[in-house]
Amino acid sequence: MISLYRKYRPKNFSEIEGQEIVVKSLTTSLAKGIVSHGYLFAGARGLGKTTIARIFAKALNCQRVNYQPLKEGEKIDWQKEIKKENYEPCNQCQFCQEIDREQSLNLIEMDAASNRGIEEIRNLKESVNFPPAKGKYKIYLLDEAHMLTKEAANALLKTLEEPPSYIVFILATTEPEKLPATILSRVQKFDFRRLSNSQIVSRLKKIIQAEKIRIEERILEKIALLAEGSMRDAESLLEQIISLGQKEIKEEILETYWGIIPLNKIDNFLNFLIEEKTKEAIEWLEERYNQGQNLNWFLTSFLNYLRWLYLYRLNPQWKIFANFSNDDLKLIEKTVKKISQEKINNLIKIFFEVQQKMKYSPLPTLPIEIGIIEASDIFCKRNL
Ligand SMILES: Nc1ncnc2c1ncn2[C@@H]1O[C@H](COP(=O)(O)OP(=O)(O)OP(=O)(O)O)[C@@H](O)[C@H]1O
Ligand SMILES: [Mg+2]
Ligand SMILES: [Zn+2]
Repeated sequence: MISLYRKYRPKNFSEIEGQEIVVKSLTTSLAKGIVSHGYLFAGARGLGKTTIARIFAKALNCQRVNYQPLKEGEKIDWQKEIKKENYEPCNQCQFCQEIDREQSLNLIEMDAASNRGIEEIRNLKESVNFPPAKGKYKIYLLDEAHMLTKEAANALLKTLEEPPSYIVFILATTEPEKLPATILSRVQKFDFRRLSNSQIVSRLKKIIQAEKIRIEERILEKIALLAEGSMRDAESLLEQIISLGQKEIKEEILETYWGIIPLNKIDNFLNFLIEEKTKEAIEWLEERYNQGQNLNWFLTSFLNYLRWLYLYRLNPQWKIFANFSNDDLKLIEKTVKKISQEKINNLIKIFFEVQQKMKYSPLPTLPIEIGIIEASDIFCKRNL
């Protein structure tokens, strides 16, 4: 089975979720025929860097896309809305299809992690001197650009200094700060943003529709939470549950399979803290740990629950609550009455710090235990 994230790699700018600024700048420069020779796509994994680079490469050569080059003295008006759909690759012409099949001579994809040597860059320098046999542009997509050796980076720099007019370099990296300043100053940099949970859910919905599978929206929301803004991670997680082959995907599966805890259990934990049941809270934690559950995910879910309570206290009409199940809303309503805004705030601070400490703690449960004890101070009757 072909993995979901490859099967559903967007082929058009319009299928991209988020990354509005990147898409707007690229389509506007396509519209005006002003193309840089060097781009840097920077951002965490799975945000669309490779995907957008390929769409852009298609549009650069596509037979359908028509530039309207600036007239003499005319300046680009970035505010002006252009018709994005006019600058979408057609996905039908030879150039588009070759890129989609990963067989294009106009798009050369290299992984700097495995092609980091001076030899490869020398080859690249030579190949740069030959104009494309067909089409307007030859595009080099250099993935993991921060992995280039110093020598390789220097060689690349020389080509970036005086690139032939038909050359476009797209450097993609998850760690832009590791690139030498000399390279950074010669490329146009785009920062890719993590996707919001609702952007992720909206795309997952389209995928399950296309796959004709029914999964409750709240499960998709859990996935979005776990994916931490990475669309690829979200799609891989979705694939994992789909591959369980169950007709109906219920929440319990998430607990056994990923250690995702249902809201009522998280609420139980919080109530231990509110009621000063420190011993119960610590035992509860230990039990989860012994079952081999992922404590980091538990913390994320717990923090998220606190966030919901916080927002709910501010305003129950908040849009995010519109999709909640009645059971969940009942839990929130009940618990929110027992805890002040200030205390929620304090808990968030404590457990946020706990999560940071978890990264370095040799004893995984220790930071949470300390958090529980600190939390008991907040609720201690003396402090009422
Ligand atoms: N912004 C997005 N909109 C829609 N789908 C996306 C987006 N970003 C990623 N995806 C999905 O995730 C998959 C992987 O994305 P892509 O390869 O472009 O990520 P990347 O940023 O290059 O990550 P990496 O740094 O790991 O190479 C795509 O095939 C697509 O299914
Ligand atoms: Mg990539
Ligand atoms: Zn085309």
